[in-house]
Amino acid sequence: MKHFTNLKDIPSKDLRKIILDAKKRKNHRKKLNTLEVDKGAPLKGKMLIQMFEKASSRTRISFYLSIKQLGGGTLTLRSNELHLGVGGESIADTAKILSTYGDGFMLRTDSDKKIQNFKKYLTIPLINGLSPSSHPTQVLSDIFTVEEIKKKPISKMKICWIGDSNNVLNSLIVASVKFSFKLSIGCPKEFEPKNEIKNWVKQNNKNISIYNDPKKAVLGADVIFSDKVVSLNDKVNKKKKLEKFKNFKISKKLISYAKNNCIFLHCLPRGNEVYEDVFLSKNSYVWQQASNRTHVQKSILMYCFGKLR
Ligand code: CP
Ligand code: NVA
Repeated sequence: MKHFTNLKDIPSKDLRKIILDAKKRKNHRKKLNTLEVDKGAPLKGKMLIQMFEKASSRTRISFYLSIKQLGGGTLTLRSNELHLGVGGESIADTAKILSTYGDGFMLRTDSDKKIQNFKKYLTIPLINGLSPSSHPTQVLSDIFTVEEIKKKPISKMKICWIGDSNNVLNSLIVASVKFSFKLSIGCPKEFEPKNEIKNWVKQNNKNISIYNDPKKAVLGADVIFSDKVVSLNDKVNKKKKLEKFKNFKISKKLISYAKNNCIFLHCLPRGNEVYEDVFLSKNSYVWQQASNRTHVQKSILMYCFGKLR
């Protein structure tokens, strides 16, 4: 069994294997209905328990579909329905119980420490479905989407992020090292990525470019990513933060500095970081991006259950 909590911990060759498996599985499903099971039902009888401490639409529904299409099932919990949240049962005891009843645990949490603690005590795979410091299932799926649309390896592209230095960007930065692609980031000075992640990039002998001018960041980009300026549970003065990002709002004019066929991606939900005419333009592939979560997460589950060959 393997955990999937941070892209940093997973060798590049395993991440590549997950993407290849997802591509094959997606191709094989063309004629199948939503809940029909993949040939061989590789995770038949397995139960994924998912727990959400924060809101989720995509992660929740796509993981439900992922495990179902592999022949298993899921139980979805809100943390306040467990003794862990309201009755004070320890993480160690909760982890033991989850490992007794379930075969895998997917957690969305506002505490990275909780991810570490569950990892320590669970005897079943743990998947990070978003934490304050990373969103690994989203970003791996996004790499798949970029390569699917562009029909070439991401290592041959320039990827740009315009927005806050949040969990999704952290995972994208790690992915830039794991998949060797050029990454340029455009954000206000005071919202640049933390030293911890910048140092990790340096230790791995790679570079990322950070600009406080969005035009410089998008120059020559093949892909522009963005995300909400104010994340779930971001404890900031929203009005002030949005004001600081006002020159970073993604417009058609800004995109004109990127390559001609540049695509726009956004993990959703969106805020006001992008203009409607960009979000709904022919360059925007946000719906395909959301739909691919199901396919890539299936291969992540296969990896965690030790079934990926
Ligand atoms: N992108 C994403 O993780 O969406 P949800 O918050 O809806 O799960
Ligand atoms: N950065 C966002 C991602 C939501 C999927 C958040 O943490 O709210």
